[in-house]
Amino acid sequence: MPDTLTITDNRTGKTYDVDINDDTVRAMDFRQIKVQDDEFGMMTYDPGYTNTAACTSSVTYIDGDKGILEYRGYPIGQLAENCDFQEVAYLLLHGELPNQSQLEEWVQSLRMHTMVHENIKEQMASFRYDAHAMGMFISTVAALSTFYPEAKDVHCAENRMLQSKRLIAKVPTLAAFAYRHSQGHPDNYPKNDLTYTENFLHMMFKMTDNPYEPEPALVRALDVLFILHADHEQNCSASVMRAIGSSDADPYSALAGAAAALYGPLHGGANEAVLNMLNAIGHVNNVRDYVAKCKDGEHRLMGFGHRVYKNYDPRALIVKQCADAVFEVTRRSPLLDIALELEKIALEDEYFIKRKLYPNVDFYSGLIYEAIGLPVTMFPVMFAIPRTVGWLAQWQEMMEDDERRIQRPRQIYVGGREREFVPINQRG
Ligand code: CMC
Repeated sequence: MPDTLTITDNRTGKTYDVDINDDTVRAMDFRQIKVQDDEFGMMTYDPGYTNTAACTSSVTYIDGDKGILEYRGYPIGQLAENCDFQEVAYLLLHGELPNQSQLEEWVQSLRMHTMVHENIKEQMASFRYDAHAMGMFISTVAALSTFYPEAKDVHCAENRMLQSKRLIAKVPTLAAFAYRHSQGHPDNYPKNDLTYTENFLHMMFKMTDNPYEPEPALVRALDVLFILHADHEQNCSASVMRAIGSSDADPYSALAGAAAALYGPLHGGANEAVLNMLNAIGHVNNVRDYVAKCKDGEHRLMGFGHRVYKNYDPRALIVKQCADAVFEVTRRSPLLDIALELEKIALEDEYFIKRKLYPNVDFYSGLIYEAIGLPVTMFPVMFAIPRTVGWLAQWQEMMEDDERRIQRPRQIYVGGREREFVPINQRG
């Protein structure tokens, strides 16, 4: 006997039994509920999708109340401690951790795709000198689709994996080119004997012919940050990736859309907003006033709060430890004291306690990026590089889902109807 939910429609007195699976009922089962036979039937209304599952997934598990995050069942802390980013990328895309030879093959296949066409470089050079790095990143990812027209064959699993490897391998190159453009410095081509994160630091920071040895502590910190940011189930940008992908668009176009969704300050742009906020606060003595203004609704405390986590974001805890390791080899950010004071005051405050608002992943990550020497405009790009893996894992999973349909929500129409057309010269 399956679990069921019995609904009584008090308008008609009729009752309906609908199946419950995984503590969930199917929205389409409500369509049978009508007063008149010729009615459309009942829908569910859920602005912001706060209580709607749009897919099944086996990529990432989150328990927001307990502060648990797992990729393919592995706790995030264990992955951050024991893996490098490429190993976790393999796990997210393939569902299993690689053995040694699988890892070597994977790393080698990513290395094969780090270069971009020279025309891409020229396109990036044509952006204004002060163009925002994320704007350059989003447009150039979209432009990649014109270089790989075969990516349109989204129903071929082999082709999907090839395009995924291309994207994962090329996003650090695009990010570094965007940064070098903003600095007015010549681009550094990828150096394929380096690891993913070493190569990224090399493309970002190598100057002229001087040898560049990436600082091991920074390489490790970047691996950890990339692992923490790699996926986060059905967040705003992953949902956009799935929404665009559901129309069978190529993955470059879909990923550009996902990156655009990430750019917003309520999502991945929050790391940039946090640093701007800490700079605006300016001194630990100003923290209380700032928090009071947050409570008055004047502004939000950036890097605080989460739709799913109603507990400390497990990623934020690891980022905080990571920051300590980075500050040992860089200068300690003067903004750290403001951040620590802000966290302390907010966590003791009734407003934040009542609403279960805790620091999220973006609260401390910006301080690390700043210490590494990155301008704030690069912060959302630093989120987009690893999240590319998550977007692709979500997209691949969706493409293999038998229940996949083009995403097309319903609406409750509240506008006027059947209005008489008024010629322009008679309008008020
Ligand atoms: N500062 C002050 N008040 C807040 C904050 C905040 N950062 N976040 C939520 N609230 C309040 C909000 O005003 C509301 O209060 P009330 O019930 O009195 O109206 C209550 O908490 C619930 O907020 P909500 O907007 O309904 O929550 P949401 O789930 O729709 O939004 C959020 C989640 C992350 C957009 C929001 O917490 C926020 O804007 N945080 C700041 C931006 C940020 O740090 N974003 C990064 C998220 S983590 C990285 C990622 O994965 O994207």
